[in-house]
Amino acid sequence: MTTRTRRGSLCALLAAIGLAWLGASHAAPAGAPLKIGFLVKMPEQAWFINEQKAAAELGRKDGFAVVSIGTPDGEKVLAAIDNLGAQGAQGFVICPPDVRLGPAIRARARQYNMKVVTVDDQLVDGSGKPLAGVPHLGMSAARIGNQVGQAIADEMKRRGWKPEEVGALRITSDQLPTAKQRTDGATQTLLANGFKPDNIFSAPQRTTDDEGGFNAASPVLTRHANIKRWVIYALNEETVLGGVRATEQLRIPAANVIGVGINGAGEAFAEFQKQQPTGFYGTVAVSSTSHGRQSAHNLVNWIRSGQEPPADTQTTGTLMTRSNWQAVRAELGI
Ligand code: GLA
Repeated sequence: MTTRTRRGSLCALLAAIGLAWLGASHAAPAGAPLKIGFLVKMPEQAWFINEQKAAAELGRKDGFAVVSIGTPDGEKVLAAIDNLGAQGAQGFVICPPDVRLGPAIRARARQYNMKVVTVDDQLVDGSGKPLAGVPHLGMSAARIGNQVGQAIADEMKRRGWKPEEVGALRITSDQLPTAKQRTDGATQTLLANGFKPDNIFSAPQRTTDDEGGFNAASPVLTRHANIKRWVIYALNEETVLGGVRATEQLRIPAANVIGVGINGAGEAFAEFQKQQPTGFYGTVAVSSTSHGRQSAHNLVNWIRSGQEPPADTQTTGTLMTRSNWQAVRAELGI
């Protein structure tokens, strides 16, 4: 070992001791209000803004503080946990930027004696199984995917489209289990309704937002310029909207596109309010408000009463289109 590397390891050791010391010395003083973190992978996305807002609102009512942090990569997650530890937080809710960070996140939380629950994207262990000891709350992914597929199939029938003339743009994020389950669910239902398997084209996305959807969709649409009618689905509505924008750029008329998303948040509402209908037909809405509120409640209840939340809570969705979006929004409290 060279002097430099030895000095390096010494520094790392001192840093680790320092962190452990911080964790111990900054533990919440008796009587201080309970504090939790709420960490999300995409803090700019309406879904996650709603979740954090709902958690903070519950905190105001229920006597705990919520520290909202955006953690778009692994380094930011670990820094956020250190930061929460130094503030004496007793746990956090997280939608991680990468589910494979599971063991690292759990280990860092344990250093500070913090409890962890996941929301939306469930952490996995080294073998890809759900991470033990971290309760999860997320959507019933396959079932919601089935609803997307059914909504598309019904609308195709209503428009009188023949399956052999229609292409499906399946924008995928297969390394994220909930995303794969959602798009697989939609594919399965489309096939059960007579969709032609050879007409389904996968478009892998790099990021789960509009830009990721647009970039994934464009080359696939261009490659299959002979297809005049398209259906589009993905893990969320942001991605589907990106796909719809790609069809617009290629001048495919809105009447020839049926895009159905998942979430039911800000961007879908804006789309439904446009004067002319676009290719974005609808979205299966899930209550981001109750995801935020319920996951924060589960964590706080665990901290306060020692009662561990259920290992896996699955939520349901409702189809939202231009014609019913306001009613569904009100019903889900979004
Ligand atoms: C994933 C997606 C989000 C949202 C949540 C809901 O995290 O990236 O857009 O759909 O799931 O569970």
